[in-house]
Amino acid sequence: MLLVIFLFVVKAKGKASKRKSNQAPFPPGPTPWPIIGNPPEIWRKRPAFRWIHGLMKEHHTDILCARLANSHVVAVTSPVIAPEFLKKNDSVFASRPVTMATEYSSRRFLTIAVVPWGDQWKKMRKVVTCDIVSASKLRSLLENRIEEADNLVRFIYNQCKSNGNDNSTASAVVNLRLGMRQYSGNGHEKTVCKAMKIVSEYQDPLIDERVQEWREGKRTEPEDLLDAFILAKDSNGKPSLSIEEIRAQCAELMLATVDNPSNAVEWAMAEMINQLETLLKAVEEIDSLVGKERLVLEADIP
Ligand code: HEM
Ligand SMILES: *[C@@H]1O[C@H](CO)[C@@H](O)[C@H](O)[C@H]1NC(C)=O
Ligand SMILES: *[C@@H]1O[C@H](CO)[C@@H](O)[C@H](O)[C@H]1NC(C)=O
Repeated sequence: MLLVIFLFVVKAKGKASKRKSNQAPFPPGPTPWPIIGNPPEIWRKRPAFRWIHGLMKEHHTDILCARLANSHVVAVTSPVIAPEFLKKNDSVFASRPVTMATEYSSRRFLTIAVVPWGDQWKKMRKVVTCDIVSASKLRSLLENRIEEADNLVRFIYNQCKSNGNDNSTASAVVNLRLGMRQYSGNGHEKTVCKAMKIVSEYQDPLIDERVQEWREGKRTEPEDLLDAFILAKDSNGKPSLSIEEIRAQCAELMLATVDNPSNAVEWAMAEMINQLETLLKAVEEIDSLVGKERLVLEADIP
């Protein structure tokens, strides 16, 4: 079974040693180096998730605290402890740190996934959950997804067939992903700016054109998520989002839906290649449930 780690970051108010005596102690964890904390071990014992699981075993704990500079990072593997963070005292952990990379990638915190807790986050969360990732939208866009999945499988198939003779397209995808990884700190500002500029130059004209088409009445039926963003209305029947908010949220959703799942799939595939029996089990499962006559459908996944 896959062990899920929940990570919570708590910005320290001061040095650990200066904490008042009536405060509860921190969860167990590795001894931090002065000022920098635990990054040296994290780097030496990569990947981080194995390091964390190893430490938790070593300390016989379901909750662990490591330090990254002046932030305390709390890892939780217990389903009993997790609700304390996710439900009971959710408000303590609900915000996010303000960083250069999140500021630029959200066009100054206009979006949902990387912005600090507050009115803008609440607004975007409402629009995204009601109008964008709702169950009814998911159903109504099934056809679009089937078409795109088909394109993707065909693309990969052709890449494999051409035997790596032309990997210009594949490397373009990888470059964008590398560029968008959210590094914060000196020297990365230019990289993030450049990556966001590439995204804007690609998507903004498409978004502006679509908005114009709705304004001019050239469109009457919503066909995809961009239409859903444009048509989203608040309780007064006014458009929920400005064009700038639509642009920012589209870019963020592309990151959430392309970068994250592709990393997760890459990770899962790499793990399966390392553990052949798991790979064979997966192949067997697909063969017995789907067969070799057709491709896997969304409906095959419970
Ligand atoms: C394997 C795939 C994914 C992973 C690992 C992942 C990971 C995450 C993480 C860690 C956060 C929390 C960020 C934070 O609080 O600082 C987050 C938030 C979010 N993700 Fe994902 N995500 C994935 C796929 C997706 C997909 C497919 C979508 C959209 C359809 C999505 C939409 C969102 C949204 C809207 C938020 C913000 C939620 C909120 O603030 O209430 N994610 N994701
Ligand atoms: C956590 O939640 C409980 C119950 O809602 C509350 O009494 C307590 O003050 C909260 N702790 C913090 C640190 O906010
Ligand atoms: C394809 O990409 C890989 C990795 O980026 C590179 O090492 C290789 O030389 C490329 N192959 C061709 C034929 O361009």
